[in-house]
Amino acid sequence: MKEIKKVTWRSPSNIALVKYWGKKSGVQIPANPSISFTLQQCYSETSVALVEKEGKSKEIELRFYFDGKANMAFQLKMLKFFESVQSDFPFLREYGLLIHSTNSFPHSSGIASSASAMSALAIALCDLKQQLSGKNWSAEKFLQKASYFARLGSGSASRSVYPLISEWGKAKTVKGSSDEYAIPFAKHLHKTFHTYQNTILIASSSEKKVSSRIGHSLMKTNPFAKTRYAQAEKNLKEIIDALKKGDLEKFGNILEEEAMTLHALMMCSTPSFVLMAPSTLTMIEKIRRFREESKLPVYFTLDAGPNIHLLYPKAVAKKVDAFIYDELEQHCEKGKMIHDNVGKGPVKVKA
Ligand code: PMV
Repeated sequence: MKEIKKVTWRSPSNIALVKYWGKKSGVQIPANPSISFTLQQCYSETSVALVEKEGKSKEIELRFYFDGKANMAFQLKMLKFFESVQSDFPFLREYGLLIHSTNSFPHSSGIASSASAMSALAIALCDLKQQLSGKNWSAEKFLQKASYFARLGSGSASRSVYPLISEWGKAKTVKGSSDEYAIPFAKHLHKTFHTYQNTILIASSSEKKVSSRIGHSLMKTNPFAKTRYAQAEKNLKEIIDALKKGDLEKFGNILEEEAMTLHALMMCSTPSFVLMAPSTLTMIEKIRRFREESKLPVYFTLDAGPNIHLLYPKAVAKKVDAFIYDELEQHCEKGKMIHDNVGKGPVKVKA
């Protein structure tokens, strides 16, 4: 199989501070705006190689390998995504596609990989498009395009293409915001947050109880949906103020309110889902007690699952690490945790 061109990109996961939960009509249009920290250690690395086609048909020819092994389930998802964007990337039909992807974090760690995987793939496609056309977008436009296409694969992936922090979703108070792509936000970020720590405490690594696709759709009939969307707008405005000023207490209070609201929304959906594990609650209690006693700015957030993201400034990392190992490690599944931090965004990997 003759290789014509190949690109490899590494793109990180992200953790939402104000959560995206619920969609408007249209393709992956969020019901409310969201904002997230880009992570550093949790990433996907994806290479897309264009090869000579085996057959003469116009069908997309794709082979997908995850961790070096053929993976049919992911391949089918990717094929659906490629079919939806083929008019923007004509080379998807002109060549055969050989795709290899790996994650830096273990597959069964309960860490959502769609944000890193879809953003890595979208950036690789945009890179190939530029190379094949010989026309370059500006660096800013390139990332906006990548964010747009990442969004079509997984909403939260749109936010992974920018360093440190990014905002996605039309918000009255955020200039330049859009439902179609995320925007960079780092220039507004107080320096304390540039090195913020995010330790992921693995309460359980079992499969997700509910897919985010179903989770989003449950908001259509959730009796609190309207109130939630208004709360998200308000929380976004306020957390941005805290992020600019470096107001850690205000930041942390909104962070925890967002996490608890996301889980409360799932509990009062029909059908109802409890996404925390018993150890999630035990750890939350301990974190709040530690904060009260130590007066350190240690706050948590949660994704749509049982694992805790503990956020704190680098300056207090030593003391917080001691607390993590003394008090929280015992509640993590097999003691598993990932030490991550706010990160630099996607990078191209040299061949
Ligand atoms: O991108 P999706 O469709 O997997 O949805 C992600 C939703 C949350 O992770 C729960 C929140 C968010 O904004 O990332």
